[in-house]
Amino acid sequence: MLDSAASSSSPTFEVKGEDGHVISDDFSRLDLDLVHGFLTKTYWSPEIPRETVERAWRNSLAFGLYAADGAQVGGCRVVTDRATFAYLADVFILESQRGKGLSKWLMRVVFAHPDLQGLRRFMLATRDAHGLYAQYGFTALTAPERIMERVDPDVYRRKKQDAR
Ligand SMILES: CC(C)(COP(=O)(O)OP(=O)(O)OC[C@H]1O[C@@H](n2cnc3c(N)ncnc32)[C@H](O)[C@@H]1OP(=O)(O)O)[C@@H](O)C(=O)NCCC(=O)NCCS
Repeated sequence: MLDSAASSSSPTFEVKGEDGHVISDDFSRLDLDLVHGFLTKTYWSPEIPRETVERAWRNSLAFGLYAADGAQVGGCRVVTDRATFAYLADVFILESQRGKGLSKWLMRVVFAHPDLQGLRRFMLATRDAHGLYAQYGFTALTAPERIMERVDPDVYRRKKQDAR
């Protein structure tokens, strides 16, 4: 899909593609019920509470991908200081819209965003989509012994139980 227009002068960054699709970083356009519904069905965030999704997307550089009728069909978010570092998360395309190059277009637009230029490190985690991100320069860790993590895979489940 071709990128036919891009602008960074306004607070929102919007790119129009073929077929009337649009990618925008306008938080107010996001369909957070759709995003939450999708994320609860993924392998990485089952049981994530709706309010956690909203807080995470609001505090990220969040991208929505919209069909010509305005309905959201995909998206992702970037956790970033907009100067040195970024972490790509929650990349998705609705099942009915897959296989048309939409996620590749989304990645091109994300990596062209004016606030994500000149970073020293861009990271992400994936179980099986390495081949997607490899097309944009991502590799396995070059020095894994220098990277550490602290993981709490049950955090959302506990949150749900605590709320009961
Ligand atoms: C992964 C996902 C975003 C791909 O969206 P899509 O719009 O159907 O993908 P595209 O049509 O843009 O093509 C994706 C490209 O990545 C490649 N790829 C590598 N791993 C892949 C994977 N696990 N799933 C889909 N495509 C993958 C495809 O082969 C394709 O490359 P090619 O066209 O050069 O052959 C979509 O399948 C999805 O939402 N999956 C569920 C959520 C998910 O797993 N997100 C990624 C988390 S890291």
